[in-house]
Amino acid sequence: MKEQSVIDAARSLLYDQALVKFQGRYVGTVAAIPRHAGQDLNYNEIFIRDNVPTMIYLLLDGQGEIVRHFLDTCLELQSQKFPTVGIFPTSFVDIHGEIKVDYGQRAIGRVCSIDASLWWPILAYIYVQWTGDKEWVTNSKVQLGIQKFLDLFLHPGFRDAPTLYVPDGAFMIDRPLDVWGSPLEIQALLYGALKSSAALIAIDLEHKDYFNQGNALFEPFIQQQFYQLNLSINWLKNLRNYLLKHYWINSNIVQTLRRRPTEQYGDRIVNEYNIHTETIPNWLQEWLGQEGGYLIGNIRTGRPDFRFFSLGNCLGAIFDVMSNAQQSSFFQLIIKNQSQLLSEMPLRICHPPIEDIDWKSQTGYDRKNLPWSYHNGGHWPCLFWFLVLAVLRQKDKTEEMEQLLNIYYELLLQRLPKQQWAEYFDGPTGLWIGQQARSNQTWTIVGFLLAHHFLKVNPEDSKIMNLPSLMFLQQLNTINLF
Ligand code: GLC
Repeated sequence: MKEQSVIDAARSLLYDQALVKFQGRYVGTVAAIPRHAGQDLNYNEIFIRDNVPTMIYLLLDGQGEIVRHFLDTCLELQSQKFPTVGIFPTSFVDIHGEIKVDYGQRAIGRVCSIDASLWWPILAYIYVQWTGDKEWVTNSKVQLGIQKFLDLFLHPGFRDAPTLYVPDGAFMIDRPLDVWGSPLEIQALLYGALKSSAALIAIDLEHKDYFNQGNALFEPFIQQQFYQLNLSINWLKNLRNYLLKHYWINSNIVQTLRRRPTEQYGDRIVNEYNIHTETIPNWLQEWLGQEGGYLIGNIRTGRPDFRFFSLGNCLGAIFDVMSNAQQSSFFQLIIKNQSQLLSEMPLRICHPPIEDIDWKSQTGYDRKNLPWSYHNGGHWPCLFWFLVLAVLRQKDKTEEMEQLLNIYYELLLQRLPKQQWAEYFDGPTGLWIGQQARSNQTWTIVGFLLAHHFLKVNPEDSKIMNLPSLMFLQQLNTINLF
């Protein structure tokens, strides 16, 4: 098939079949285009996380109206009831003219998806930034939504750490896979969501000229906006320092970690989480090489998770948790391990898979997550565009990396239409279509369209997910507001 006909076919799947209407207006895309009418588990539902690529593509395609309506619909579905007040739905669906919502309470295994709530302010910021729609963001219902979101996420807790503590399977990996605690993807999204929320509040305060009113006595709602703005900015600072201190590793850092003492107590110690050298896996030596670096999967007392998670790392780069130099080492790591991470189908979702007794005990014998399958080391084409974006938005991107992306784009161009835009691929190289993969999976289709857009149509648009810099936000924080 020629490139243009693949693009046309993909666009037609998106616009004619995946995008669905509710009460006469486009409201989002289903997770997978159903093969037969009727239920296919919950793949006929509109998932917030699956709609992230859709909405970004629609923005690039001049369809801001649909994105705004999607954001408004999610806002209306933000939970108002205790104890879930403030969370956004994992998914929703039109059943006989009424919207039925899933906050996780209907999901397989009743997992709660925390990433959906974190994605909403990020998408909202991207929308506002791209379209310049200040009228929307200065609307009190939007600001109220942000306030409820922040009430939920920036609350007192038992741990003195700026990371968000979540149960197993709280994000794209929505089944048990030993990703409880402080998994990277959630932390990277938290970082993005706090940056976005702070910026959205600041736009409102600026628009209403509240920054210049000195010590004016504001009504409680506005006071709360100022309070949450400052709190978010301080939280962001702590979160980034924490992630770079505890999650970022390269060869030198591993050598330091291996030689740390254990059983330390008190304030001035080097091994806060009492991590034993034996938890540091030997495969890291080959995997990191001299130049590679990445953010590890999780930090927990005594049980760090050194697995590599593709999406969390790409988001860590895109949202600038990683410094520029760290982003370059992350790309070096990808180049070095391309035969594993990209292989026959980019990207592998996490590396390495958990096997044997670990698979049994950590997944609860989950057959969908057998080693080299699905979330457990499977390959997901919907992740490729995140890597493309992470690379292209870098000032000092290397030609080697760009070439690599083009090679893998060609591979997707050849394979995906032939293999019906499958959801995921199995096996150590990702050659086989996933055992239980859906076909015509929307984020596979849209992920490909995005990769095409950024690599072939307009690389400049890779700035679309740029969030405000921490430095910019910190300047807001220096204004004495109280
Ligand atoms: C599966 C995936 C999840 C996705 C959903 C719909 O549950 O694990 O990440 O959102 O399918 O595609």
